[in-house]
Amino acid sequence: MKIAFQTASLDPSGAIAVGIGEGNVLTGIAERADKLSGGAIRRALSVSRFSGKAGQLLEMVVPQGLKASRLILAGLGKPGRFDALVAERLAAAVVGRLFKSGEKAATLLIEAPKGSRIAGAGLAAHLAMGARLRSYTFNAYRTKERDEHVPTLESITIGTVNPSAAESAFASFQAVADGVSFARDLVNEPPNMLSPADFAARAKRLTKLGVRVRVLGEAEMKKLGMGALLGVGQGSERESQLVVMRWNGAKRADAAPVALVGKGVCFDSGGLSLKTGAGMMGMKGDMGGAAAVAGTMQALASRKARVNAVGVVGLVENMPDGKAQRPDDVVKSLSGQTIEVLNTDAEGRLVLADALWYAQSQFKPKCVIDLATLTGAILVALGHEHAGLFSNDDTLAEHLIRAGREEGEPIWRLPLDDAYDKVLKSKIADMKNIGGPQAGSITAAQFLQRFIRKTPWAHLDIAGVAWQDGEHKELAPSWATGWGVRTLNRLIADNYER
Ligand code: BES
Ligand code: MN
Ligand code: ZN
Repeated sequence: MKIAFQTASLDPSGAIAVGIGEGNVLTGIAERADKLSGGAIRRALSVSRFSGKAGQLLEMVVPQGLKASRLILAGLGKPGRFDALVAERLAAAVVGRLFKSGEKAATLLIEAPKGSRIAGAGLAAHLAMGARLRSYTFNAYRTKERDEHVPTLESITIGTVNPSAAESAFASFQAVADGVSFARDLVNEPPNMLSPADFAARAKRLTKLGVRVRVLGEAEMKKLGMGALLGVGQGSERESQLVVMRWNGAKRADAAPVALVGKGVCFDSGGLSLKTGAGMMGMKGDMGGAAAVAGTMQALASRKARVNAVGVVGLVENMPDGKAQRPDDVVKSLSGQTIEVLNTDAEGRLVLADALWYAQSQFKPKCVIDLATLTGAILVALGHEHAGLFSNDDTLAEHLIRAGREEGEPIWRLPLDDAYDKVLKSKIADMKNIGGPQAGSITAAQFLQRFIRKTPWAHLDIAGVAWQDGEHKELAPSWATGWGVRTLNRLIADNYER
């Protein structure tokens, strides 16, 4: 998709979109379009239920008096609520409407309502971001009915008073959008096409952006003592991998990095504690945490973020097999702690145990943040609306919650407490990998905390937000959402750069 900025005018052909405030208050440019079309906008409004609520659309085909083939009236909502996210979603809604409509070009002439929280170049850049995120596609495996899935829309122009200012504001957004697309691609890719080694190969491509990428195979991990991670991949024909991505953009090259750690289970069958057929569907997405980490590294590198960051992702495939790990096995983690594996489907925490320990001992990070599609229980607690957050550090937790709110990726904090930790006691080892039937997301987080060494740490359980079934959200047209890239990028931009 081509995205460009231009001085706003009602000249363009193709589709144009103008903003209408709540209560059908016309913006200046909508007023002019109404005049040019002999009052067609006001007439259209009067025969419709459209009222200018945020995100509402009313489409007028071949409006008289204008060169445009279509005129879209786009609801701005209340001025006090019109902010960056509302703007992004509005642009996304317009693009969604036009994407496969037959139109090739669209021009957004969205003026902020008076008294709103965003305007000018910032508004234009956010409109472009919404358009960009909404125009993601994943059609690589379609050979039939391809045409109806292939978009007709080729270019989007954002009308604004200062195109070059908008352009430069958009440059860093574009880097983030690239990271989101990268993460979505990884999650959408089917598991026969994306093994741990395939994921690692894609991560290697970040080298072009200046990211140093190192891949550890099973032999190296065995030498290091990563028995927890290796146990999970033991039943798979495909080799487990640990990928380390380093971006050193800080002024001081030796400044302690921010560490991002991701669960990368390329397919989670449950292992010998096999999932049901229905429970297994979608488990290609069980590397959503690793995808978010890789996507964030891409965003940081492409916008040349002034920060040192390291991404560590543990990549495995959890399969049943004659060689697979058994329930009752005891493994030794990199930390030296032993784990009794009572359920092979509680594998994410085993992968993270070693990846977290590795990240901390190798890089002595300022803080460590892990992302994982860790528990079904987080869906019970929070549904698809919030990611679950667990942290040993209130400041880090608050920063994450704020970043998530601003980026449209809401986060809800849940407790950690010794009282929950007791259920992890094992009869024969240092701990077991499952708790009881209750508070499953919390006991999983308690397990992870046993692998944290005096470092500010946050764990994001993204099992409910990494992908979406059924209805797709405005900004994420595909199954995979790319959740986390925006929030992590924002967290770093606001708190760790320079
Ligand atoms: N990958 C799953 C968690 C999951 C479930 C993600 C549904 C997305 C949707 C994880 O590895 C898992 O299987 N967790 C178990 C843990 C249990 C065995 C203690 C779960 O949640 O049932
Ligand atoms: Mn599992
Ligand atoms: Zn899993």
